Amino acid sequence: MYPIIRNRRLRSSESIRRLVRETSITPDDFLVPLFVVEGKNVKEEIASMPNYYRLSLDNLDREVKLLWKMGLCAVLLFVKVPDKLKDNKGTEALNADGLMQRAIKTIKNACPDMLVMTDVALDPYSSYGHDGIVGDGQILNDETIDILSEMSVSHAKAGADFIAPSDMMDGRILSIREALEDEGFINTGIMSYSAKYASAFYGPFRDALDSAPVDIKNVPRDKRTYQMDFTNRFEAIRETQMDIDEGADIVMIKPGIAYLDIVREIRNEVEVPIAVYQVSGEYAMLKAAAEKGWLDHDAVMMEQLLAIKRAGANIIASYFAKDVVKLLS
Ligand code: PBG
Repeated sequence: MYPIIRNRRLRSSESIRRLVRETSITPDDFLVPLFVVEGKNVKEEIASMPNYYRLSLDNLDREVKLLWKMGLCAVLLFVKVPDKLKDNKGTEALNADGLMQRAIKTIKNACPDMLVMTDVALDPYSSYGHDGIVGDGQILNDETIDILSEMSVSHAKAGADFIAPSDMMDGRILSIREALEDEGFINTGIMSYSAKYASAFYGPFRDALDSAPVDIKNVPRDKRTYQMDFTNRFEAIRETQMDIDEGADIVMIKPGIAYLDIVREIRNEVEVPIAVYQVSGEYAMLKAAAEKGWLDHDAVMMEQLLAIKRAGANIIASYFAKDVVKLLS
C-alpha cells in the first residue's frame, strides 16, 4: 500500500508544475544598474562584465527609452568620474551640474515615468577609492555623512526619485532623511544598502568605475572598517532594523546568491520592501562560465534570480535585467 502520498504527482507535467509554482519573475521585479561616463556617443564595454557598458548621456537617453519599452521601470545610477575631478572629500559629488545630476535630468527628460535611484557614496569621486573621507588613518564617519546628506539633496534637486546610500557609514540614513525633509523633499525615498558586506564579488564594478581603494599609508586597502564582515548574521538584522528606524523606505542586502540566508532572515524580521543586489562578480562568473560552454547561461541566470526571489527579495538589482526580459517575452 505504501506510498499513498506521492509528491511526484505535483511534478508530473509542465502544466501541473505551472499551477503549483510558488515563485515567478517579471520585469516589475528589476532595478537596472547603469554606468554613466562623460563624452559623446560613448558605449564602452566593461572588460570584466561582458555585454555591459558605460554610456555617455546621449546613449543613456536611448538606453532608458529602450528599457522602458521593454517593460523595465526603474534604474540605479552610477557615474564614472574623471580622475582630475577626484579628491579626498568627493567635492565633485556636490556639483549641481555634475555628471550624476545631468544623468538624472537626461533620464527624466527622456522617460519621465522611469523611476530613478541614485548611488550615494564617495568612492567614484574619491581620489582614494573609499566611500568616505580619509583622515587620521581612518574613514571618517560623521564628516562623511554631512557630505552624503548634501549629495542626496543635490540628487533630489536634479529629479531623483530615490536616494540609495551604499556607503555603510553609521547614522547616514537619519542624516539624509533630515536633510531631504529640511529642503522640502518629503517624497524623495531612501533605499538603504543596509546589510552590505565587504565582498570580493565587487571587483568588476570597481573596474567599471575605476573606483578600487588605493594604497595609502596606514589606511587599510579594503572596506572592512565600514562594510560588514561576511561571517556575520545578527549584525545584518541590527543594521537593517536601524536603517528602518532612521527612515529607510526600502532596505537592501548585498551581494545576492551567497547571502540568501540573510535575505530570508531579514524577510522574516521586517515589513518594508527588500531589495537584493546581484552584484558584478556574480554577473561576471556566469558570463565567463557560459562563454566557456561550462554552464547554460539562461538556465543558470533564471535559477539564480528565482532563488533570490524565493529567499524573499521584492526587488532585484541585476545586470541580467534585460537578458531576463528578452527571455520572458
Ligand atoms: C560603491 C558601490 C559598490 C557597489 C555598489 N555601490 C562597490 C563597493 O562598495 O566597493 C558594488 C556593485 C557591484 O559589484 O555590482 N559604494
